[in-house]
Amino acid sequence: MKYVIGIDIGTSGTKTVLFDEKGGVIASSTIEYPMSQPKNGWAEQDPADWWGASAKTTKTVIEKSGVSPADIVGVGLSGQMHGLVMLDETNAVLRPSIIWCDQRTAAECEDIERLIGGRDELIRITANPALTGFTASKIMWVKKNEPEIYEKCRHILLPKDYVRLMLTGEYATEVSDASGMQLLDVPGRCWSDELLDALGIDKALLAKVYESPEITGCVTEEAAALTGLLPGTPVVGGAGDNAAAAIGMGVVADGRAFTTVGTSGVVFAHTDKITIDPKGRVHTFCCAVPGAWHVMGVTQAAGLSLRWLRDTVCGPEIAEAEKQDVDPYKIMDAEAAQSPIGANRLLYMPYLMGERTPHLDANVRGGFVGLSAMHTRGDLIRAVLEGVSYSLKDCLGVLDGMGVNPGDMKICGGGGKSPFWRQMLADVYGVPVTRVLSDEGPALGVAILAMVGAGLYPSVKDACDAIVKPKDTIPCDAARHAEYMKFYEIYDKLYPALKAEFDALSAL
Ligand code: XUL
Repeated sequence: MKYVIGIDIGTSGTKTVLFDEKGGVIASSTIEYPMSQPKNGWAEQDPADWWGASAKTTKTVIEKSGVSPADIVGVGLSGQMHGLVMLDETNAVLRPSIIWCDQRTAAECEDIERLIGGRDELIRITANPALTGFTASKIMWVKKNEPEIYEKCRHILLPKDYVRLMLTGEYATEVSDASGMQLLDVPGRCWSDELLDALGIDKALLAKVYESPEITGCVTEEAAALTGLLPGTPVVGGAGDNAAAAIGMGVVADGRAFTTVGTSGVVFAHTDKITIDPKGRVHTFCCAVPGAWHVMGVTQAAGLSLRWLRDTVCGPEIAEAEKQDVDPYKIMDAEAAQSPIGANRLLYMPYLMGERTPHLDANVRGGFVGLSAMHTRGDLIRAVLEGVSYSLKDCLGVLDGMGVNPGDMKICGGGGKSPFWRQMLADVYGVPVTRVLSDEGPALGVAILAMVGAGLYPSVKDACDAIVKPKDTIPCDAARHAEYMKFYEIYDKLYPALKAEFDALSAL
């Protein structure tokens, strides 16, 4: 039996899973790390935390499993997208990584669109409008605000590609994650010279671009000593977290889609041909299936909204969870279930970190609307779950408008583990949602890519057909769908009604 390792470098922690060649989980290990928010709307992490967690978790899974490192035929890397890692000539990290949910770069987004000759031109090349979340505007921000750091910068990498450098010594990336840098010619799947010239970014700073299942390098002696892998173990391109999750759920053909509720929430659909929203409300990226793309809508603060509520308001639920030795979210779900659809007329806007789909607005922030002295924590929890679900429905609506109508909706991520939230999503979407047997999403996805890279399967689709199986499907309840839609209609009007006030608030 052969084995592969999938490393998923997320925002709250790194999860590493050792799989056998049939996709069975042999051992798993997670290490968490902090995110710092030095200012409202800023978000940074220390790349050393990612590498430390990746190395330790890899060592742990190998030791725990008792598998011989000689039987581990490949490693796949997945991770949070868009984060900016800047290195000097000795590969020292020059500043904390500005990560995907950071919103400081509104001015640089305007600069980018101006420099390339307008938004339409940028969409033609990168398939997306300039977004604060993407890497290009973060690079431009450092160039403008920290010129002494930019001056010293010799390499620009994404979070998982920094871990790859530590593992293999190679400066490499792959098309799915590179798409989110906003420097890639997304239809052509290579760096755009035209755009790099316009922005004044030297191509030599960027990594070599591969397709996701290709081998990008092999584990060095030094990394082998830290991880327990054998020197020479191949590391494949891997994929950004969502493109990786798509592989882990078999979303590798037209008509297939999934929702993931992690820190952010995503509605993702595979497309064999490139499809672009002219308004730029959803992202079009290369996917991890060579030669194909995907479209995805993003809710910035999905699980993050619930975690924020847990940490600021739900002390009693946390205490009860400790008593019962269960996850606090389980207690929170049970309380939310006591509240009716509509949370006793309480609506939640999930824009804690600004919003991408469908508003593309860095200034908007969250809100509860309709608060009454009668509301309980259960109502607040339900309102948050509903608000995030409505935002995900907005994502699905934009895809629908582009003619991407997936008949099959899979679900994964932390939020997808909650039966209460899964049912809510099926009812709000008005379509059934299906879990797959493995809930390892991104880690399994990049492990599958590693299997293909190692030659265990001839193609990504063949590997998915053999490995990914459905677990259960929750149908949509038509009566509940109709009830939710009454509240969704009002939710839909909140953002336009408050937009000017959020702009004014952010200008103070
Ligand atoms: C995708 C995105 C998030 C991050 C963090 O565009 O920003 O999904 O990858 O998970």
